[in-house]
Amino acid sequence: MDLFEYQARDLFEKHGVPVLAAAIATTADEAEAAATKIGGKVVVKAQVKVGGRGKAGGVKLAENPADAREKAAAILGMDIKGHEVRTVMIAAAAPIESEYYLAILLDRSNRTFLVMASVSGGMDIEEVAHTAPEKLAKIPVSAVDGISLAKATEIVAAANFPSDVADQVAQVLLKLWEVFQSEDATLVEVNPLVKTKDGKVIALDGKITLDDNAEFRQPGHEALVDHAATNALEAAAKAKNLNYVKLDGEVGIIGNGAGLVMSTLDVVAYAGQKHGGVRPANFLDIGGGASAQIMADGLSIILGDKDVKSVFVNVFGGITACDAVADGIVQALELLGDKATKPIVVRLDGNNVVEGRAILAKAAHPLIEQADTMDGAANRAAELAAK
Ligand SMILES: Nc1ncnc2c1ncn2[C@@H]1O[C@H](COP(=O)(O)OP(=O)(O)OP(=O)(O)O)[C@@H](O)[C@H]1O
Ligand SMILES: [Mg+2]
Repeated sequence: MDLFEYQARDLFEKHGVPVLAAAIATTADEAEAAATKIGGKVVVKAQVKVGGRGKAGGVKLAENPADAREKAAAILGMDIKGHEVRTVMIAAAAPIESEYYLAILLDRSNRTFLVMASVSGGMDIEEVAHTAPEKLAKIPVSAVDGISLAKATEIVAAANFPSDVADQVAQVLLKLWEVFQSEDATLVEVNPLVKTKDGKVIALDGKITLDDNAEFRQPGHEALVDHAATNALEAAAKAKNLNYVKLDGEVGIIGNGAGLVMSTLDVVAYAGQKHGGVRPANFLDIGGGASAQIMADGLSIILGDKDVKSVFVNVFGGITACDAVADGIVQALELLGDKATKPIVVRLDGNNVVEGRAILAKAAHPLIEQADTMDGAANRAAELAAK
């Protein structure tokens, strides 16, 4: 889960990373009140989970509360790379002397953690990384040793931080490591980390990605979820404990086993090329021991997706044999009644396939069609979706 800047800022504060006073606002009135409370010059910053806000006009300096009100009115409702600005953060304005860059991330390809640091931070860091990679120090961090003061000092030296800020930057690194480790993050980035005119080092912008796999031991993170942005179908699926991801095509997919569902997405996308470019509408893995209830839950989520034009149920019978799955499909359609309205192509194979196919044939449900092969079923489902 990616956090908003204000949420990253709050986690920074909780762990002792130096940040400035700030508050969020969803209206121009609230923005003016927040600026009054903070006092002096402030910056008004769009809160969207996408980079490059500054360059898109989503970060503006305001001289006073009335100005903050105006800037907030201009930024709220703005569209930044497809993200609508619903919230702004009002933060004290820092007198900036230098902008640096610091990040700790999970480096999957090298199976380690990595610190990236540069004294050429700010809005052009991507450009710097591209054209002058030597200005971006990359130092691996072992998961066992983490970042000690000695390691932090080594990183600060490798990135050539000036001596007057070296100690402060090392301390910030220690705190950022604390954030990274204790919050179970996969990315903690500060851009810019600034030196102010009076020599203080402060984190002015933060980006944090939390590891969803650690959700079970981070009960506090539930409060950080942006429910307004969660897809309604995904939320409904989550409530039913289904492994569902909404995609943007037209063929609803249900399968058992993540690998089978992934390859089902591929064959449907491939078959769809012959039928006007229809594509899979979702990923849904109902797992090995799918009961009739789970099949009904899955089908009802998929049939509730207005983009879905046809459904492909792709099951390979294993421990749960095909006859049990076929019974599940028949019962699920009974449970759904009138709510089931779209054609469903079923491909069964594996354990007890003959019995499973016989059950579906006998039920003769008007929405169900059987196909012998996965490619054949994908082709038929794509054809039905294209109609
Ligand atoms: N509190 C602040 N006081 C003064 N200047 C600021 C403050 N916050 C940001 N700025 C200035 O605005 C620039 C852009 O801000 P910020 O880094 O938050 O947005 P961004 O980098 O464009 O967004 P993103 O990191 O999402 O791409 C900073 O590099 C800095 O120069
Ligand atoms: Mg930034």
